[in-house]
Amino acid sequence: MALLEIKNIHAETSGKKILNGIALKVSRGELHILMGPNGSGKSTLAQVLAGNGAYKVSKGSIKFSGKDLPKLKPEARAKLGLFLQFQNPPDLPGISLGILIRRSRRALNSDSKKNDLLKIGAEIAAKAKLFKFGGQFLEREMNGFSGGEKKRSEIFQSSLTPWKLAILDEPDSGLDADGLRLAAQEIKNYLKNNRSVILITHSQRLAKLLKPDKIHILLDGKIALSGKKDLIEKIETKGYGWIEKTQN
Ligand SMILES: Nc1ncnc2c1ncn2[C@@H]1O[C@H](COP(=O)(O)OP(=O)(O)O)[C@@H](O)[C@H]1O
Ligand SMILES: [Mg+2]
Repeated sequence: MALLEIKNIHAETSGKKILNGIALKVSRGELHILMGPNGSGKSTLAQVLAGNGAYKVSKGSIKFSGKDLPKLKPEARAKLGLFLQFQNPPDLPGISLGILIRRSRRALNSDSKKNDLLKIGAEIAAKAKLFKFGGQFLEREMNGFSGGEKKRSEIFQSSLTPWKLAILDEPDSGLDADGLRLAAQEIKNYLKNNRSVILITHSQRLAKLLKPDKIHILLDGKIALSGKKDLIEKIETKGYGWIEKTQN
């Protein structure tokens, strides 16, 4: 059974139809890359999966880990193992990255035993070293981070919280070359542990560092085309116009 199975999803917000019949199946250990022009509905799909109440699902079904996803609140979806990394992470005044990770892990019940508290401390320290985060960065409130700092901190969070499927919404935007390599390395690590990733990106550079199982092109709220890695290069040189032409 697929970990995620989306069938014919239609979604709208304030009367505007954004998703027009999305179908997608993701199994354990798979990496799916989602591409498409600005405004095609990629982030909306991510938000619908995470349970953002601003979007109404008017048709279709979504099963995750055997459960009917639209019936669940966002926190129940997270407990089931769904992780969303935002395209535009909100500021969190008064909360530091270190606290956010500890609290998230506690809320997700992965640190129930006493010695887990020591373990998470060591894990955070080791990852912080890899990410070249000084203690100050972990303790600073999550407010006024630069674009790149936000992205690094989101990848840091996804590396340290438990989940089965992560949706990474343009994790590469604003990252420098080292940040991009780090993001690719972390995504590879996730997949080694049989976790699944839906990566939304415009970056051919990031996609080339990875071995996606499938590439999907979203156009006007629908998956217009799915294929293998060679699609990425085709999009880079030819854009999306030819797909619209082929489809219409
Ligand atoms: N909350 C919202 N209210 C109104 N329009 C929205 C909202 N969210 C998304 N949209 C619109 O839906 C379309 C798809 O947006 P989005 O999913 O962010 O696209 P992408 O991530 O592919 O660039 C765009 O036209 C966007 O303006
Ligand atoms: Mg988007």
